[in-house]
Amino acid sequence: MEILHVSAECYPVAKAGGLGDVVGALPKYQNKAGNNAKVVMPMHRTPFLYNNEFVVDYKGTIQFGPSQLNFTIIKEKTNKLGFDLYLVDINGLTDRTKVYGYSDDSDRFIAFQIAIATWLNSWEHNPDIVHCHDHHTGLLPFMMKYCYAFQNKLQSIKTIFTIHNGEYQGWMDFSKSILIPHWDEWKRGQMEWADKINPMASAIKCCNSVTTVSNSYLGELKHSCNGLEPLFEYEKGKCFGILNGIDNEVWDPSTDPRINHHFSAAKMEGKAFNKKELCQKFGLAENLPLIIFIGRLVGEKAADILPDAILTTLYNQFGKQNFLILGSGDPTVEWKLTEINNQFKGYYHCELGYNENLAHKMYAGADFLLMPSRVEPCGLNQMYAMRYGTVPMVRSTGGLQDTVTDMGDWEGFGIRFNNATVSDIHYSIGRAVSVYNDKTHLNWMRQHMMSIDHSWETTVDDYQRIYER
Ligand code: GLC
Repeated sequence: MEILHVSAECYPVAKAGGLGDVVGALPKYQNKAGNNAKVVMPMHRTPFLYNNEFVVDYKGTIQFGPSQLNFTIIKEKTNKLGFDLYLVDINGLTDRTKVYGYSDDSDRFIAFQIAIATWLNSWEHNPDIVHCHDHHTGLLPFMMKYCYAFQNKLQSIKTIFTIHNGEYQGWMDFSKSILIPHWDEWKRGQMEWADKINPMASAIKCCNSVTTVSNSYLGELKHSCNGLEPLFEYEKGKCFGILNGIDNEVWDPSTDPRINHHFSAAKMEGKAFNKKELCQKFGLAENLPLIIFIGRLVGEKAADILPDAILTTLYNQFGKQNFLILGSGDPTVEWKLTEINNQFKGYYHCELGYNENLAHKMYAGADFLLMPSRVEPCGLNQMYAMRYGTVPMVRSTGGLQDTVTDMGDWEGFGIRFNNATVSDIHYSIGRAVSVYNDKTHLNWMRQHMMSIDHSWETTVDDYQRIYER
């Protein structure tokens, strides 16, 4: 099948979160399974753009409200990612250094989607599937069906929409509808939700199938999705939960070039050396359990309660564990977490920022990974941790619930808790410390979690079934 993925992010071209990881890996594995999968995304000004060679694939013009904008689609020359990569350059709109966070993001992503529809319209054939990811690409299915300029050719193409995060829906005022090329006014309801243009709602209505990145999250969306709950109930017949995979080639403790001591389930010695190195680097006590947190410091990830949860533990159980934090986000949380650096030197360290190399070293060297997320559609970090023999401590929600079992249950290998609260986290850390001291149990858990297959191959099969349907 020919599959065109449309996304705002794709690792290693540009990544802000897990969406980037997924769009960077899924097409590669789809191609390995015999498909012809491609990715089209905005041309962000990231190092990838400057360090690789591109050729011009298409030049066109879009009508954008009262203006006409020229755009160019360039294609990476060598297929180095394992799929064809196309970047959309709309002068002044897509060529920015960050993926999101500009005041004109709505306009930028509308223009991006019009450019893609215009480009697809110029193809001699049609792809079998257009696969859109998250709200930045949510208006494309509407445009393909109901814009007069595109519908003749594009409305028969099957479309899939994958929700990586239902909290953000891309709402905008209806006045923005003048930016969308002349569309069938009778179909207004297909792009609207609660009197606004809602790209996520529009995609759910217009696509042939909707997927989200875990089964539990699909269930949760029907009860909590920023106002779209009834839509999920109404459209449930075309909604499916498919758990993400992880790229086992990038995330392999026996070959990972970012870690200094390789290891595997059969030969675990290297893990201790990684821990030693990590603890020395940050001045932590290497004989104590090492608990890490990696991620965006935002409310969704429950990062706001991390400082209190950590302080409570450090005051009550001083000297029983170490903490190492890596992330960035809310400035207040960043400030609180770095304040603890001076207070508990030797037992705690917070490193602000996004650092892929350090993240790999942390998964390799840590004993436990804490993920108290309030919302976690899938979560990849717990799967990376498991692959590196690091015990996940997770709140029972979304994809965390679907991938981690509690050590108190039959063959359970992780630690689960119900609430994103200081007391639940504090209690779970206590459980972590006690299992750390029971080396037989801990080793069994490590062996077990490292043998679980979270590779993309199974996920690719699940998507294939939906495409065929
Ligand atoms: C979003 C979700 C995360 C998921 C990722 C990839 O970042 O918050 O849970 O793993 O997308 O689908």
